[in-house]
Amino acid sequence: MVQVEKLLTQHNDVEGSHTIDVYRSLGGYKALEKALAMTPESIVDEVKKSNLRGRGGAGFPTGMKWSFMPKAPTFPDGRPKPKYLVCNADEGEPGTFKDRLLMTKHPHMLIEGMIVAAHAIGASRGFIYIRGEFVFETKRVEDAIVEARKMGLLGTKVSGTDWSFDLVVYRGAGAYICGEETALLNSLEGKRGEPRLKPPFPAMVGAFGMPTCVNNVETFCAVPTIINDGAAKFASVGTERSGGTRLFCVSGEIEKPGVYELPINVNLNDLIAHCGGVLGGKKLKAVIPGGASAPMLSAAETDVAMDFDSLAKAGTMAGSGGVIVISEDTCIVEVAARLLKFYEHESCGQCSQCREGSHWLARMFHRIEIGQGTEADLNAIAGICSNMAGQTICAFSDAVTGPALSSVRKFRHEFEEHVRLKRCPCKPEGHVPKHDHHASATL
Ligand SMILES: Cc1cc2nc3c(=O)[nH]c(=O)nc-3n(C[C@H](O)[C@H](O)[C@H](O)COP(=O)(O)O)c2cc1C
Repeated sequence: MVQVEKLLTQHNDVEGSHTIDVYRSLGGYKALEKALAMTPESIVDEVKKSNLRGRGGAGFPTGMKWSFMPKAPTFPDGRPKPKYLVCNADEGEPGTFKDRLLMTKHPHMLIEGMIVAAHAIGASRGFIYIRGEFVFETKRVEDAIVEARKMGLLGTKVSGTDWSFDLVVYRGAGAYICGEETALLNSLEGKRGEPRLKPPFPAMVGAFGMPTCVNNVETFCAVPTIINDGAAKFASVGTERSGGTRLFCVSGEIEKPGVYELPINVNLNDLIAHCGGVLGGKKLKAVIPGGASAPMLSAAETDVAMDFDSLAKAGTMAGSGGVIVISEDTCIVEVAARLLKFYEHESCGQCSQCREGSHWLARMFHRIEIGQGTEADLNAIAGICSNMAGQTICAFSDAVTGPALSSVRKFRHEFEEHVRLKRCPCKPEGHVPKHDHHASATL
């Protein structure tokens, strides 16, 4: 039995939760009132004490990130530099669909979290970078911004104070790499969405060259509850190094797929049981615990807590909270081949290791899947991956190696059987896979 703890989604089923009237009637914008009476430093301290870690993927401590923002940056001629706040609402990681839920049901929670964050770091303008496909969510957020402006919560003199802050919504164009924060900043500036070399980090040189703080939708949505109920309450859920709840997106072969808000350190087996267990009562084969980039766990490895540190210790990552359940009936080679095809397509091509490596891996996995692979292919995978992880401008290349290495290491017998039988043993003889454009590919 899991302990159900809802700090963000307790009002999911309230009719009209996306409107400012209903949000306020449920206690919305009280955190903003409280925060505006606090000093920026004390807000940052409160967020530090809550042990909130970024929900976008890397799990970086949020309060610490905010404290990296320069206090009063100036241009060389002494004029003050504006500071910017950016919300990463790109949500491109396969298996992840929580930010769209938050934006659909609770756009004001996001806006409130952003205004509090902006006050804490001294930002004058915020940008919400939304995945282009999220047409409905964009409308919800835009409508909520109009409502908040009408109430004087955004714009000049926020809530009657001397401080002005407003939000701009920017739609992406469907590139996974634009979820990486520096590619996002380039895209926001109207440039090609390619990651930037770091340093300089966005806190020093971010959007339009100004100091910028980038956080995920869920990260911002956690801020009102931290300010309202205090850091201690948030920190009391989870672990010492990772506080609060998390919105787990459970998909794949599971009885009750969906978004589940649970303590961040819920045990993976308990999470699966909470979602009704593996589809059709089948045996579990593997779980991808943190979005497509997270290395797979085999069924023998699922007795693990889902917080950032526990999953890292288990050799995988909590990533974006996308939990993909795979049953005994699913071909792991096919799963890995599909994932690698995605990465091949989405590599921005800036770094050769990633551009070529993701392409080679996609072709090799496809070859193995359709029975044209060799033992030499299997042996080459680790070498290609070692030239990719940690060798490029951004972490995309590392992400590619997650499914590639974990699938071959943990399910090598399945790969070997494909090589030995010269076909996929999970499919009837003569089966031709869909999306066969690599069929005759050689490395
Ligand atoms: C290839 C790649 C894709 C990413 N996609 C997303 C995304 O869709 N949404 C997101 O919030 N973070 C994404 N991230 C993480 C961001 O770079 C960044 O760490 C995050 O927005 C910071 O917010 P947080 O500290 O609140 O987690 C991605 C990272 C990489 C390397």
